[in-house]
Amino acid sequence: MAELKNRQWLLAARPSGMIKESDFRWNETTVPALKDGQVLVRNLAFSFDPTQRGWMSMDTYMPAIPVGEVMKAGTIGQVVESKRPGFAKGDLVQGLFGWEDYTVNGGEGLMGLQKLPPGTDPILALSLFGTTGLTAYFGTLAVGNVKEGETFVVSGAAGATGSVSGMIAKIKGCRVIGIAGGREKCEWLTKVAGFDAAIDYKNEKVGEALTRHCPNGIDVYFDNVGGEILDDALARLAHGARVVLCGAISQYNDFGSKAPTGPKNYFNLIMRGARMEGFLVFHFLQRYPEAITDMLKWYSQGKLKNQIDLQHGLENAPQTIIRLFTGANFGKQLLKLADPQ
Ligand SMILES: NC(=O)c1ccc[n+]([C@@H]2O[C@H](COP(=O)([O-])OP(=O)(O)OC[C@H]3O[C@@H](n4cnc5c(N)ncnc54)[C@H](OP(=O)(O)O)[C@@H]3O)[C@@H](O)[C@H]2O)c1
Repeated sequence: MAELKNRQWLLAARPSGMIKESDFRWNETTVPALKDGQVLVRNLAFSFDPTQRGWMSMDTYMPAIPVGEVMKAGTIGQVVESKRPGFAKGDLVQGLFGWEDYTVNGGEGLMGLQKLPPGTDPILALSLFGTTGLTAYFGTLAVGNVKEGETFVVSGAAGATGSVSGMIAKIKGCRVIGIAGGREKCEWLTKVAGFDAAIDYKNEKVGEALTRHCPNGIDVYFDNVGGEILDDALARLAHGARVVLCGAISQYNDFGSKAPTGPKNYFNLIMRGARMEGFLVFHFLQRYPEAITDMLKWYSQGKLKNQIDLQHGLENAPQTIIRLFTGANFGKQLLKLADPQ
């Protein structure tokens, strides 16, 4: 095969505070020759996830990305050449590839190399049926163990994970209150996503609003943001409440510089016989098929909406990741490079 040009974004520096475009460096190179066991993938779409801020700073559930290497992302691509048994030109694949036009992969990395069914829509597979949709499913049902009639509160509610968790709690018969930033997102929650109420944390006192909307306390709190909002929720738990620790985006820009702010109101877990439990979606890997079956059914019944924020072009990757931390994204943040061929 003729030498292929590859454009990529390298990690230029460990971020300090908010991610900056200068934390990345543009690089142009050529694709190396394939070795036995490897495939050459043309990348079609990237997922953008708050956890990438951790990968840029420190060892987490995987080693930190070395400075000078390609920035990693959950990716769907198409095989253009294969020296790996079971993979052929044209196959759609998913893995933890990188911000580049082409990736050479031999099945390494957290997600390995997964073949997708022919005709899979890369955008749907990276959103509702991707990591964030699955996180919402297991966080709400397996960790939160929601029951009909319960009061369910979720933060980051208009985001990829939060919106789906609220919709699943609604399907299970809960009263659902979402906390999100700005009037437009809050209106979407109540008018489109079917939430019972929304709290605009940028313009309202969250604690007072929770007291008003949850007169009998919170049965399940699905936390995506940590910090003060987590404390506001802890102060209003019902007896036997479950607090689902999914993420803490309000703390991520401190990664690598200072320790996160811990919860002040955790004593309420004792008073209310409540529990707080963290999880990673990968802990439920064996149960993904069950989740996809349920979610496909709900999606086809119109009970799950898939709100996508689609950006375009490899050159825009650094600006796109920053959107997650300013709240500019509305729904699942993706970036599209190309259509499958
Ligand atoms: N445990 C797991 O396995 C797992 C897997 C996937 C995701 N997660 C976690 O789930 C959470 C949501 O991730 P996502 O991919 O679905 O992203 P997302 O919610 O679609 O996007 C991030 C949102 O966070 C909000 N935000 C940003 N800075 C904030 C701050 N300082 N305080 C409060 N809200 C802030 C913004 O919404 P507003 O406009 O409302 O501020 C932004 O739109 C993250 O904490 C992530 O780490 C966990």
